[in-house]
Amino acid sequence: MGYKILKKEILAPGIKSFEISAPLVSNKFKPGQFLVLRLHEKAERIPLTIVDAEPSSGSVKIVFQEIGKSTIEIAKLNENDEIMDVLGPLGKESEIELYGEVLGIAGGVGAAPVYPILKSLKKIGNRITTILGAKSRELLIMEEELSGISDKLLITTDDGSKGEKGFVTTPLKLMFEQGFCPQIVWAIGPLIMMKNVCAVTKSFGIKTIVSLNPIMLDGTGMCGCCRVSIGNKTKFTCVDGPEFDGHLVDFNELILRNNRFIEEEKISLERYNNE
Ligand code: NAD
Ligand code: FES
Repeated sequence: MGYKILKKEILAPGIKSFEISAPLVSNKFKPGQFLVLRLHEKAERIPLTIVDAEPSSGSVKIVFQEIGKSTIEIAKLNENDEIMDVLGPLGKESEIELYGEVLGIAGGVGAAPVYPILKSLKKIGNRITTILGAKSRELLIMEEELSGISDKLLITTDDGSKGEKGFVTTPLKLMFEQGFCPQIVWAIGPLIMMKNVCAVTKSFGIKTIVSLNPIMLDGTGMCGCCRVSIGNKTKFTCVDGPEFDGHLVDFNELILRNNRFIEEEKISLERYNNE
């Protein structure tokens, strides 16, 4: 027996959310953790951050972008369909503490994993400022949810179709130059965004947590696929992370490693489309 999809929503073009019945995962979930899905026996294992959990109904919510064969295959499922395996919750939970002023930075689909973290930080009394960025207005997700838990929400779009025109780093730099000084920053989004956010926050000496998304297989610390260099030490993202001190991450190495199978991924998608 598999894990039933209770609810399916289209959040933006190519971005969907599923609520899945997985009571054991739901009961144990803490913000920052992820799960690994396997659609059927021959399917790839896909790591996805858990966005929300509802222990009373035993459900977990995931948000994903259709970028390759596996995510396109999963996106075709509908309510009442089943996923063969849901493994989790995996990884370490976020360090939810009373910091005071917290800045959340959410880029594209990264808005989904940042939300439960900021929600928990808000719940215990932190003041939350959030910068939410996307390529364009229609690709902005979780705006309502983030607005509900943020004391201040700034929106950027690359093309200027909503909020300030530019990347999330544009208002970030300006805010720091104008004296805004959060105790800690949580930044989740594409690697290049996290790298550039960390360059800014490092120059202002502000601690920054990022959530990494390397290639993963088992998700339990055995295969070594998810290894990353953190302050010149090798760490396994699935068991030591996924969150790390962004100022210590070797982003260039991770970007190279994540691009390692681009050709194979293209071929796999072409084959799937021609089936
Ligand atoms: P995207 O390319 O649309 O970028 C989102 C935002 O990031 C942009 O709007 C911009 O504000 C910022 N950004 C992009 N390039 C930048 C740059 N060079 N400098 C500064 N800021 C920049 O993002 P997407 O298409 O939604 O892709 C999301 C990515 O996030 C995927 O690669 C996905 O794998 C990753 N992701 C990571 C996690 C995680 O836990 N780390 C979770 C979900 C998604
Ligand atoms: Fe295999 Fe982390 S995914 S060690």
